[in-house]
Amino acid sequence: MDSQTYLSELFALDGRVALVTGGSSGIGRAVAGALARAGAGVVIVARGEEKLAATVDELTAQGCRAAWVSADLSTREGVRAAAEEAAGVFGEPDILVNSAGINLRPPLGELGDDVWDATMAVNLEAPHLLGQRFGPGMAERGFGRIIHITSQQAHRAFVQSGAYGVSKGALESLARSQAEAWSPFGVTCNTLVPGFVMTPLNARLSSDPEKVAALAARTLVGRNGLAEDFAGAAVFLASRASAYVTGQAVFVDGGFSVH
Ligand SMILES: NC(=O)c1ccc[n+]([C@@H]2O[C@H](COP(=O)([O-])OP(=O)(O)OC[C@H]3O[C@@H](n4cnc5c(N)ncnc54)[C@H](OP(=O)(O)O)[C@@H]3O)[C@@H](O)[C@H]2O)c1
Repeated sequence: MDSQTYLSELFALDGRVALVTGGSSGIGRAVAGALARAGAGVVIVARGEEKLAATVDELTAQGCRAAWVSADLSTREGVRAAAEEAAGVFGEPDILVNSAGINLRPPLGELGDDVWDATMAVNLEAPHLLGQRFGPGMAERGFGRIIHITSQQAHRAFVQSGAYGVSKGALESLARSQAEAWSPFGVTCNTLVPGFVMTPLNARLSSDPEKVAALAARTLVGRNGLAEDFAGAAVFLASRASAYVTGQAVFVDGGFSVH
């Protein structure tokens, strides 16, 4: 067997369908691109139509199969409508990536119910509802991959960002519960854990050179993360190669968490 065939057997996503929330920006956009280039038909879901369309245009120009659905994942109705519309494009997904997330940042002492509710709705409830919608079908078909993007804040408090870490800690627990429910049927459920990644989510911190340098110094690699750093790990977790990896938190953080 030549090396290309061997690599394809392990990692190729040809014939798979992926749904990537938050696929129009940052980490989700890089993950959507990686899955599409590895062969999957990819549907990205977010609110802003302009960035959705630009991402899909870029991918289709490269010969990938990609489409977008505009939806607000902060309400149950929004999530349910998005799921149906997305599944209508290339069929029921084999791969679900939950990257849509918000970090509204009031410290816990100043946190109102509105921020708590919005944070839990987008960061935790939407991934849960999408799992409930697609997990059983994946299990029935005998193959599925659920990947959540969590945060180092699932493991430690950081820059006073209140409810955000709470939602991400719960998201890691959700991955374990999903893994328990569906792994016996070929559906693995894992999380990718970023450290500090230079994306629009971090616009405020990323524009402060001193803070950027201080955060880079906290990694072992010596730089902050880029969205592209998630491509390889996402393809691995979406592929046949990761069949025996489930319920895990895979840190893609340049060593931030062990330094
Ligand atoms: N960047 C980091 O340092 C970092 C660190 C740890 C964890 N993370 C996590 O990684 C994930 C991706 O973050 P990122 O840095 O790539 O952020 P980003 O560039 O801000 O992208 C966030 C994505 O989520 C979508 N989104 C936000 N609210 C939504 C809603 N209500 N309904 C539908 N879509 C919504 C956004 O599109 P619209 O606004 O158009 O809807 C966008 O596509 C998040 O879960 C984040 O918590 C990031």
